[in-house]
Amino acid sequence: MRTQVAIIGAGPAGLLLAHLLYKAGVECVILERRDRAYVESRIRAGILEQVTVDLLRQVGVHERMDREGLPHDGFALSTDGDNTRIDMKALTGKSVMVYGQTEVTRDLIDAAIHRDIPLLFEAQDVALHDITSARPRVTFRHDGVDRVLECDFIAGCDGFHGVARASIPADVLRTFERVYPFGWLGVLADVPPCDHELIYASHERGFALASMRSNTRSRYYVQVANTEKVEDWSDERFWDELCLRLGNEVAPRVTRGPSIEKSIAPLRSFVAEPMRHGNLFLAGDAAHIVPPTGAKGLNLAATDVAYLADGLADHYRGNQAGIDAYSARALARVWKAERFSWWFTSLMHRFPETDAFGRRMQIAELNYLRGSHAAQQSLAENYVGLPLH
Ligand code: FAD
Ligand code: DHB
Repeated sequence: MRTQVAIIGAGPAGLLLAHLLYKAGVECVILERRDRAYVESRIRAGILEQVTVDLLRQVGVHERMDREGLPHDGFALSTDGDNTRIDMKALTGKSVMVYGQTEVTRDLIDAAIHRDIPLLFEAQDVALHDITSARPRVTFRHDGVDRVLECDFIAGCDGFHGVARASIPADVLRTFERVYPFGWLGVLADVPPCDHELIYASHERGFALASMRSNTRSRYYVQVANTEKVEDWSDERFWDELCLRLGNEVAPRVTRGPSIEKSIAPLRSFVAEPMRHGNLFLAGDAAHIVPPTGAKGLNLAATDVAYLADGLADHYRGNQAGIDAYSARALARVWKAERFSWWFTSLMHRFPETDAFGRRMQIAELNYLRGSHAAQQSLAENYVGLPLH
């Protein structure tokens, strides 16, 4: 089996890359370790930046998003129950789209099948070979048969725990990491959201987020210590804690209902440099992780592959500049999103070491944000997503 670009992983990065390459007339094969149902049902991110929305439109996978997605022009910042609206649209001219990662993934998979883009689910024991040579290979087992995929390039889009980054020699990679001492306990429930926009709440008991997937499906999060277990959080305990943190004004508008998903996601900042080794390129969570505050993870995956697809398309037209610049170009944007996600996380969460002075500093910064157009503009500019170019 031979192709031009072997893509490891059918998450948002791998799938969007496949469609961008398809549009550019470049061949690819996607190898995914899990089965289709598993990939399509993973509940993760919910907010698409304008750049991501534009990329989905560019590849022609936008019909359902445009029909069912909810454009949002603003969100609220809550300080111990006191709310301020950040008017993204007025501050930046841009908005974001509420459309779940599960839906994006489903649409991209449907379109890949429709376009005959080879997508192999349940590819086992994927291994990368000769990545610094002109003829890299990927070996794997599929349907009980050992297979070899020869290619020009490998795109490692296989997430944080994937095989691609692990295939780069340790002395080539430099990694930067911060692990936070808390996670987000998330609940999905078929109840109307408590507000028509998102609410990011900083409370002395810890962070909370009111989000949604549609007008009838809510997504809520509360910050919990890393030692917490999901089994210890009954639905009732979750709703009680959420309401405390959202405060007296919002709590009465929270409709409670049975959770249809409940899980704890740990928070981490991570970057691996460079994002290229030989003919292997890393993209998305394979190269970097942001804490979810600010919803940058999925969007960064999308912009990485936009740069990568441009570079690969140029390569097949005889121009190497794009792939040579890929790592530096992607990392420049990644580090800015890392900074924003770290800053927003630090501002909104309760840290074990936050003493009374530290809490007052958070409140002072939130009060500054409430009163300063310049501060709001900086927050909004990062939240809607920095420009691609
Ligand atoms: P992934 O979505 O991880 O996709 C990688 C794919 O590669 C997977 O399908 C995986 O099965 C496959 N794979 C892995 N190893 C192999 C292998 N060896 N061989 C073949 N295939 C392989 N971001 C937000 O913005 N907001 C959120 O609320 C949010 N919540 C999250 C919750 C969780 C639990 C996690 C893990 C992430 C969350 N994120 C969130 C981050 C966001 O979901 C990711 O940034 C996004 O999924 C990155 O896309 P990706 O395609 O790079 O990686
Ligand atoms: C969601 C997740 C985020 O990390 C965020 O900042 C906003 C919304 C969500 O899952 O809906």
